[in-house]
Amino acid sequence: MLDKKIADLLNEQVNKEFYSAYLYLDFANYYADEGLDGFSNWYQVQAQEERDHAMMMRRYLIDNGVRVTFEAIAKPDKTFKTTEDPLQAGLEHEQYVTSLINNIYAAAFEQKDFKTMQFLDWFIKEQGEEEKNAEDLIKKMKMFGHDAKGLYALNQELAARVYTASVNAPAM
Ligand code: FEO
Repeated sequence: MLDKKIADLLNEQVNKEFYSAYLYLDFANYYADEGLDGFSNWYQVQAQEERDHAMMMRRYLIDNGVRVTFEAIAKPDKTFKTTEDPLQAGLEHEQYVTSLINNIYAAAFEQKDFKTMQFLDWFIKEQGEEEKNAEDLIKKMKMFGHDAKGLYALNQELAARVYTASVNAPAM
């Protein structure tokens, strides 16, 4: 059985991971509308990964005897002026998610809940990778995105991303 505070934080995080999926699908919608199908694909795959994160946390809670509850998922409310804006918003969102995961980790540490810390280790590593991916996208867009040929090539590169279930990830 998990401590109630840890269970509540993880249950809240399930909602936030589903929101992340919703947010990235909104980015995918924006890029589809802009004719950048590669960028749209990249965020659609990202949304799938976020759903997986929610499902991993849901599974962990269930496996630890917690009744999971779902709250309403907030409406994505970002508006974009340039095709670079979602990339920046994505980085800021990942930094925010990192802070949330760190908070749960700190609470688990305080409770000497080493099982939850071990569960969260995968997410700590994942957040490092996701922040780096978001930073890399911004860098590439700054380098290549302002020239038609460069943007075309970058769009092609992002179109090649395919969803694969993460290796060594917690069960869903
Ligand atoms: Fe679920 Fe992008 O972290």
